[in-house]
Amino acid sequence: MPLDNEPLQHPDQWDDDVRRRYAKRQSSARESAGTKAAFRDYDTPARHSVREFYRQNHERQTVAFNRRMRQQWLPLQTRRMSVWEAMEFLNELVDDSDPDTALPQIAHAMQTAEAIRADGHPDWFVLTGLIHDMGKVLCLFGEPQWAVVGDTFPVGCRWSDRIVYPELFAGNPDRHVERYQTRCGIYQEHCGLDQVMLSWGHDEYLYHVVRDHLPPEALAMIRYHSFYSAHREQEYDWLMNDVDRRMLDHVRAFNQYDLYTKTDEPPDVQRLTPYYRELVDRYFPGPLAW
Ligand SMILES: [Fe+2]
Ligand SMILES: [Fe+2]
Repeated sequence: MPLDNEPLQHPDQWDDDVRRRYAKRQSSARESAGTKAAFRDYDTPARHSVREFYRQNHERQTVAFNRRMRQQWLPLQTRRMSVWEAMEFLNELVDDSDPDTALPQIAHAMQTAEAIRADGHPDWFVLTGLIHDMGKVLCLFGEPQWAVVGDTFPVGCRWSDRIVYPELFAGNPDRHVERYQTRCGIYQEHCGLDQVMLSWGHDEYLYHVVRDHLPPEALAMIRYHSFYSAHREQEYDWLMNDVDRRMLDHVRAFNQYDLYTKTDEPPDVQRLTPYYRELVDRYFPGPLAW
């Protein structure tokens, strides 16, 4: 799938950038213990493309855009496919810049899931590791990178300065809407994140696709895994309720696996497929509406 006119060579380049930002802070122990620090290091042009990606994301994720995306995608009438079909479909999103593996999407999915399984977590948690990035099928449905990946943040209220590249919000037209520029904006204090519109992308989309099939902890991991300003930077507590705070603990637990597994040994996809097919069938016995 060619990605013409997109700042990143591949949407996974954003995931790698998040790893640079957050995994590095705690990675020195692992590195000295012999784990290969294989996070791809960017040369200057690649750094520029990451910044250009964020510029598009921060300038274009407006309230109006978010309402439009929800109207367009959340009727879930684009396609019917099983979880497994979606995983295979996602592999069409080939990462030319990633020499590590021929099936990058399934590999990252299984690697995350395997690390969760190795730590003895319940099967719904393992399954969450497997499927958490499947919302990236939006790229294959023709959505641009800035509307699929990227750190998520609430729209309709003032942007936290702990969001990556906060200065790039200068070009977002919502800056000129007074109502959107207060601490709570269009929301009530402590209304709960379920009432808050987070910037549109693969997290929110997948949450809606799978919401009837998984426990609340799993749904929070899926829905908020890119909400770094909240789960890593402790921002936006003023919009949360007690349930959200408990759920963010689960998101943080999940995030460790999402960030750290990419450097480990690539999984034996063929050997693991029967196990994961059975797990997927148990929670998702039929096709899903996308
Ligand atoms: Fe993700
Ligand atoms: Fe991921």
